[in-house]
Amino acid sequence: MQVPNFIVILGNRRNLIFKVSIVINFVVLFYVAMHYSGNSAPGAEWVPVTADGSERSAEIKYLRDEEREFANFTEASMRKLTEFTSQKVAMTTMSTVNKTASSTASDVEKNVSAVPSEANILDEEPYDENVLTNSTLVALKAILGCKDKDFFPETLQRGEYWVLKNYVRANHGPILCHETITTTTHGGFEFLDNLVPLVERWMAPISLAIHAPGTDMLPSVNSIRYLRDCTGHDLVQQYVTFHIFFSNKHIPDHIPNPDEFLKTPYNCSLPVPYAVNSSTTYKEKTNLLYPVNVGRNIARAAALTHYVLPLDIELYPSPYLVPQFLNMIARNEPPLSTSNKPRVFPLSLFEIDKQYNPPQTKLELQGMLKNKTAIPFHKYVCPTCHNIPNGSEWMAKPETPLMEVFYVGKREGKFSHWEPIFIGTHSDAYYDDRLSWEGKKDKMTQAYIFCAKDYEFMILSNAFLVHKPGIKYYKANPKRDKYASKQASFVNNVIKKELKKIFGSKPGCVL
Ligand SMILES: *[C@@H]1O[C@H](CO)[C@@H](O)[C@H](O)[C@H]1NC(C)=O
Ligand SMILES: *[C@@H]1O[C@H](CO)[C@@H](O)[C@H](O)[C@H]1NC(C)=O
Ligand SMILES: *[C@@H]1O[C@H](CO)[C@@H](O)[C@H](O)[C@H]1NC(C)=O
Ligand SMILES: *[C@@H]1O[C@H](CO)[C@@H](O)[C@H](O)[C@H]1NC(C)=O
Ligand SMILES: *[C@@H]1O[C@H](CO)[C@@H](O)[C@H](O)[C@H]1NC(C)=O
Ligand SMILES: *[C@@H]1O[C@H](CO)[C@@H](O)[C@H](O)[C@H]1NC(C)=O
Ligand SMILES: *[C@@H]1O[C@H](CO)[C@@H](O)[C@H](O)[C@H]1NC(C)=O
Ligand SMILES: *[C@@H]1O[C@H](CO)[C@@H](O)[C@H](O)[C@H]1NC(C)=O
Repeated sequence: MQVPNFIVILGNRRNLIFKVSIVINFVVLFYVAMHYSGNSAPGAEWVPVTADGSERSAEIKYLRDEEREFANFTEASMRKLTEFTSQKVAMTTMSTVNKTASSTASDVEKNVSAVPSEANILDEEPYDENVLTNSTLVALKAILGCKDKDFFPETLQRGEYWVLKNYVRANHGPILCHETITTTTHGGFEFLDNLVPLVERWMAPISLAIHAPGTDMLPSVNSIRYLRDCTGHDLVQQYVTFHIFFSNKHIPDHIPNPDEFLKTPYNCSLPVPYAVNSSTTYKEKTNLLYPVNVGRNIARAAALTHYVLPLDIELYPSPYLVPQFLNMIARNEPPLSTSNKPRVFPLSLFEIDKQYNPPQTKLELQGMLKNKTAIPFHKYVCPTCHNIPNGSEWMAKPETPLMEVFYVGKREGKFSHWEPIFIGTHSDAYYDDRLSWEGKKDKMTQAYIFCAKDYEFMILSNAFLVHKPGIKYYKANPKRDKYASKQASFVNNVIKKELKKIFGSKPGCVL
């Protein structure tokens, strides 16, 4: 007898990142035993895919091919798999999904959930935390109570900066604020080589602010076009929204109209526009500082979703973070359900050896930590800056079956200088627009506000970030050091007083 399709799928997925608890597996097998002993309709309804039947058989076909090649597991096949999965996550996270065809499948699922089981949220079986089901979305909508936002281009000002908000929009169309999470990030065009690995791992909306003063505008536009048209998949088109900003002292001579340039595909034989020596950019040649927080804030303000993950563009999140995190929020177990303090969800950070690809799972990461091909972030640059509370316990603890809050930390004591990177919301404090990247400690003012407001830092059990491969060592940078001492005294003499007046001072809160 042929092995039922879904078993093939479960087996495969376990090799990757698919996690189903033993209890749930039992429930599934129990049901299937019954199903197959009776009349044998195709078992494909069991695939936890919410789209229509054709999608499902495509998945089965794909996974069989994938299994054949498994011994030969190259980066290319990983890419292919991630690409495939993107369609699935896109289908499950976007509002445009056609679900009518799956109604018979969900009828069946309801009957299965009548089988006694420990998990109490199994109204749609089997429970796959990498997929957002309709009932999860309904729960999220109720829990978050957020407001959907408009998604149209605007030209605005932010201090001395002009902002072309939603200059080139992702093709995903309007988004409901509870249905996905936005990574918000920023950079000069010379950093855009990071965008493809970022979107391949994130598979959800990205709001990206590009600093494009003067003649950096044209290569920025060309980079956007190249990334949308020439990367071999449509993830950038699907997910990434580009904003442009520049100082009013460095307005580009010509601002191309996206409605015009998006009409014709980019010539992909031209050189990669962002592959330049960074010392050749307008920003470097005119010796401008990088307004890192202006970029961060523009990207965050434009995000359409309730939850946001503000990242520097060289940090790549662990795959499936979006559905895993949102499913965790929907389950609403303690401490989520019992704490009413303001909260954010920090991720653990790592660097990896240049010759390796970023790990896909915590298990793989732990293997790399053991043989030192991965290390905690900035271990050789600023070990205390990114040390997270209970960090060594986090590294030692095995992956949990489902995403959960591993530990609730505070920014105090040994961690009073912590600059966490986290999933947060629009109600969190912004970064201070006046601080430059060159001046360092640019996230500290926000972290101080969190401390003063008694935020809880709910560290996620299975989620992590990996820096673009390559381990960093401390290198003296006299230019940065000069700005760093200037910025430190500005923070001390000016910003500190402001924050104390506005947010109050709390013992143990350090700026
Ligand atoms: C495995 O990889 C090698 C080298 O890349 C290739 O020649 C071979 O065809 C692959 N085998 C399969 C089954 O894909
Ligand atoms: C949904 O189904 C309807 C009717 O079958 C079809 O017209 C429409 O194009 C489908 N939409 C999508 C997004 O597949
Ligand atoms: C589910 O259970 C109900 C009542 O027990 C039964 O009438 C129905 O046929 C079942 N549906 C399926 C798809 O097994
Ligand atoms: C999801 O469930 C809600 C409530 O049960 C229902 O109103 C809605 O139509 C469903 N959406 C889809 C796409 O099936
Ligand atoms: C695309 O660029 C290549 C390399 O510069 C050039 O040879 C080719 O003619 C261009 N194609 C088109 C259609 O412009
Ligand atoms: C970039 O250009 C500068 C100055 O022109 C040069 O010193 C440096 O080596 C170049 N870097 C790379 C990676 O080519
Ligand atoms: C280190 O561990 C990882 C994950 O287990 C493995 O892929 C890699 O080959 C190992 N590298 C060395 C040098 O041992
Ligand atoms: C780490 O967590 C454990 C329990 O999870 C707790 O007992 C311990 O005090 C924590 N350590 C630190 C340094 O926070």
